[in-house]
Amino acid sequence: MTFFTTYPYALRALLLGSLAIGSVDASRKRESQTCGAYMVSGPDPGYFQHYHFSDFGSIPSVQDNDFTAAPPLVTSAENREGQPSTSSFFNQTTWQEYWSIHDDVHKPDSLLPSIYSDQNVFIARNSTRDAETDTYLTLRASRPGAFVSTAEIELNVDQVLYASLRARLRVLPNGLSNLSAPTAGPAEYVADPDTGSDRSHPVDSGAVLGLFFYHNDTQESDIEILTRDPINQIHYTNQPDYDDSAHEEIAGASTEVTMPHDYVMTEWLDHRIDWFDGVSRWYINGDLVLDKTINTPSTPSTVFMNLWSNGGSWSGNMSVGAQVYVGVQYVELAYNTSQSVGSNDQGKESCYIDNDGFNKSTTAPDGTFTSVASSSRLCGVDNLYRVTALVALVGIGLSVT
Ligand SMILES: *[C@@H]1O[C@H](CO)[C@@H](O)[C@H](O)[C@H]1NC(C)=O
Ligand SMILES: *[C@@H]1O[C@H](CO)[C@@H](O)[C@H](O)[C@H]1NC(C)=O
Ligand SMILES: *[C@@H]1O[C@H](CO)[C@@H](O)[C@H](O)[C@H]1NC(C)=O
Ligand SMILES: *[C@@H]1O[C@H](CO)[C@@H](O)[C@H](O)[C@H]1NC(C)=O
Ligand SMILES: *[C@@H]1O[C@H](CO)[C@@H](O)[C@H](O)[C@H]1NC(C)=O
Ligand SMILES: *[C@@H]1O[C@H](CO)[C@@H](O)[C@H](O)[C@H]1NC(C)=O
Ligand SMILES: *[C@@H]1O[C@H](CO)[C@@H](O)[C@H](O)[C@H]1NC(C)=O
Repeated sequence: MTFFTTYPYALRALLLGSLAIGSVDASRKRESQTCGAYMVSGPDPGYFQHYHFSDFGSIPSVQDNDFTAAPPLVTSAENREGQPSTSSFFNQTTWQEYWSIHDDVHKPDSLLPSIYSDQNVFIARNSTRDAETDTYLTLRASRPGAFVSTAEIELNVDQVLYASLRARLRVLPNGLSNLSAPTAGPAEYVADPDTGSDRSHPVDSGAVLGLFFYHNDTQESDIEILTRDPINQIHYTNQPDYDDSAHEEIAGASTEVTMPHDYVMTEWLDHRIDWFDGVSRWYINGDLVLDKTINTPSTPSTVFMNLWSNGGSWSGNMSVGAQVYVGVQYVELAYNTSQSVGSNDQGKESCYIDNDGFNKSTTAPDGTFTSVASSSRLCGVDNLYRVTALVALVGIGLSVT
C-alpha cells in the first residue's frame, strides 16, 4: 500500500520540530517520509523502498476521551467481536488507514482461551510534566477468570519482504505513580505474590508481548517479552523453534537473551528487528544484540504486535485478577515488498533513518542506484538539513511512496 504525508502535517512537523537530538525525535521521523529510499544502520548494506512511522506520542484529546483513564476491564468472554473501540481516535483515518485491531480467539484449543478485545487497546496520557511523551498506545492483558482478555494489532501492510521494524515500548511496572492508565495506582509499589510480582519484578507474570513478522507459524521472526521472566530478559526467535515430529526444540532457533546495559523490560527501550534475506538481527537502543541465520523467514509477511497469555508452557498462567500493560510510543517500519523492483530508484532521495547516522548519501550502499546529489533534495532527517528540507518540501511537493 502507499503511504503519503499531507502538506500541513509535514510542514507542522518541520516548523514545530524540537532541536534536541534525542533517541526519539518524532518530528524528524515524520520528515524522513519525504525520502525515497531508507537506509538502516547495521552490517548489511541495503536500503528499503517504503517507510511507515506511527507516532503515538502526542495524540490530541478527542471529544469523547482525554486519555486520562483506562477503559473498564473486560469481564465477559462474550465481549469479543464487534466491540466498540475505546475512543474515537481509533475511528480516525490516522489509525484506521494503518492499523487493525483484532477481536478473535487466539489459539482456541488453549488451556485458557486468549480473547483479543478492542477494549484492551487504548491511548493513555502521562500528565507528568517531564514525561517522555504526552501520550502512548497501551495494550492490556487481564485475567478475569476462565479466559484471558488480550490485545492484538496488525499493521496494514501486505507482502512485506525484508524490513527493519522498531518500536519504543515498555511493560508498565505495577504501581507506577501518576500513571493515567492503568488508573493511577498506588504511588508506592505494593507487592502481590499472587500475581507473580514483587519489588524486584514489578509486573504480573504470565503474559507475552510479541512484535513480529508473520506469514504462518513456520515463517515468522519474533521479539518476545515474557512477563514471567526476570525483567532483564528478552526472547528472539525465528520460527519454527520446535520440531513437532521429533518432539524437541530446534537448536538455535530461539534465544533467551539478557539485555545489555542492565536494561529492563519496564523501561522505555527502542526494540528493533531487522529481517533480511537469510538473517534476522535484533537490536536494543541501537545496539546489535543478536543475529540468527537459522529458519529466517523468506515469505512475504505482515507485522503484528500483541499481548497474550494462554496458560501454556511458553506464556505461563496469569493469575485471576492479574493485569499487564504495555506502553508504545511509536512503531517504525522501513520495508520492501514482494513487488519491490530496483529500476525506479535512480534519482531518489535517500537517507539513513537511524540516530547514529542521519546523514546524506548519494548512492545506495549496495551500489544499486545513485540519488540526486543536490543538497536541496536531501531528506530532512538531520537537524542540520532542516531548513534545506523545508525549502525542498515547498519546492517539490510531498508525494512519496
Ligand atoms: C466508531 O465508528 C463506529 C462506526 O461508525 C461507531 O459505531 C462508533 O460509535 C464509533 N466509536 C467511537 C468511539 O466514536
Ligand atoms: C500527577 O501529575 C499531576 C500533573 O502533573 C500533578 O499535579 C500531580 O501532583 C501528580 N501526582 C503524583 C502523585 O505525582
Ligand atoms: C510518566 O512520566 C514520568 C516522568 O518522566 C515517568 O517517571 C513515568 O514513568 C512516566 N509514565 C509512563 C507510563 O511512562
Ligand atoms: C508456511 O508458508 C510456507 C510458504 O508459503 C509454506 O511452505 C509452509 O508449508 C507453511 N507452513 C505452515 C505450517 O503452514
Ligand atoms: C495454568 O493453569 C492451568 C489450570 O490451573 C493448569 O492446568 C496449567 O498447567 C497451568 N499452566 C502452567 C504453565 O503452569
Ligand atoms: C529492497 O528492494 C530494492 C529493489 O529491489 C533492492 O535493491 C534492495 O536491495 C532491497 N533491500 C533489501 C534490504 O533487501
Ligand atoms: C552515514 O551513516 C551510516 C550509518 O551509520 C554510516 O555507515 C555512513 O558511513 C555515514 N556516512 C557518512 C558520509 O557519514
